[in-house]
Amino acid sequence: MDRTILAIETSCDETAAAVIKNGKIISNIISSQKIHANFGGVIPEMASREHIKNITNVIKAALLKANINKNELDAIAYTKGPGLLGALMVGVSFSKSLAYVLNIPTIAVNHIKAHVLANFIENREINLPILSLIISGGHTQIVILEKDNKSKESSLFKIKIIGQTKDDALGEAFDKIGKILGFAYPGGPMIDKMAKNGDINKFKFPDTNVPDLDMSFSGIKTAFLYFIKEQEKKDSKFIEKNINDICASIQKKLIQMIIEKLEKAIDITGIKNIALAGGVAANSYLRKKIKELEKQKDLKLFIPNQEYCTDNAAMIAKTSDFQFLEKDFSDINDIPEPRMKLI
Ligand code: KG4
Ligand code: ZN
Repeated sequence: MDRTILAIETSCDETAAAVIKNGKIISNIISSQKIHANFGGVIPEMASREHIKNITNVIKAALLKANINKNELDAIAYTKGPGLLGALMVGVSFSKSLAYVLNIPTIAVNHIKAHVLANFIENREINLPILSLIISGGHTQIVILEKDNKSKESSLFKIKIIGQTKDDALGEAFDKIGKILGFAYPGGPMIDKMAKNGDINKFKFPDTNVPDLDMSFSGIKTAFLYFIKEQEKKDSKFIEKNINDICASIQKKLIQMIIEKLEKAIDITGIKNIALAGGVAANSYLRKKIKELEKQKDLKLFIPNQEYCTDNAAMIAKTSDFQFLEKDFSDINDIPEPRMKLI
């Protein structure tokens, strides 16, 4: 079935638009809001205002790059949730208005599901079942993607959550630790960068024991804060003098914690197809460690391209394409769902 969809993502601090034609991404534009960098986190009201400022240009750029006229569109997809209410409102309202004018349907997409399906953007042949590790700024979950026998489309599947964080998300832990170190938000990419020149074994951090496949990252963050406070009592320039080693050591600890759980999930389920999803999947130490695990356990590994790991509209477009085939359209009365669950 011929289909061209415009997808819009405004759940947090990226204003993004992408066009997908018959399952293939033909443009992917992203405008990242710089305004939050010095506040240690995303300021919701500012994010909404920035989206309003940027959205028209971002969409125009996506259509231009795709060489598509808006009259050629068959549907408009948007992120329904989870995310910041005001930020989501911008994308949802814009999508509904444009779709109304063009007299085409809208598609409501779950942002977290889209992170998982980012793996399908470049690899169209993925054998189910897949074990997916979702590691973003707001979510940390281990899920199984299984064939959905009820679905009309053979490409669709169901999702089962088998483990998740009990408190902070992994990306959130990176960002909070980055904040303690004085980095601008988000701290994750900066820790990754600094760690490249550091010694991963210089500093040791305590283990946290959470049963089964669940996780916790708030304890390690607190332990890190006290570690820094203790060291600074002895040497006020401790951070400055050891920044690379601190980043390398804490990054090693955080990644080790998540890899241990993934390994356990592989052993329990016996599933060898592994897909990474979410912003932290861009982390270079994680990528290295997971490739080692791939060899060790004979895995089939899927990692989205870096640009599809962090928030983007291509993943929303890809997910909406599956939904289009299922005729899973949304209503004009649809509203954002800031705390939308994965399933
Ligand atoms: O998926 P994402 O773009 O947004 C959410 O849906 O949350 O993830 C953003 C998170 C942030 O916490 C950011 O610090 C983290 O991903 N992140 C990284 C890296 N790149 C992004 N964390 C560690 N290393 C990176 N290279
Ligand atoms: Zn995200």
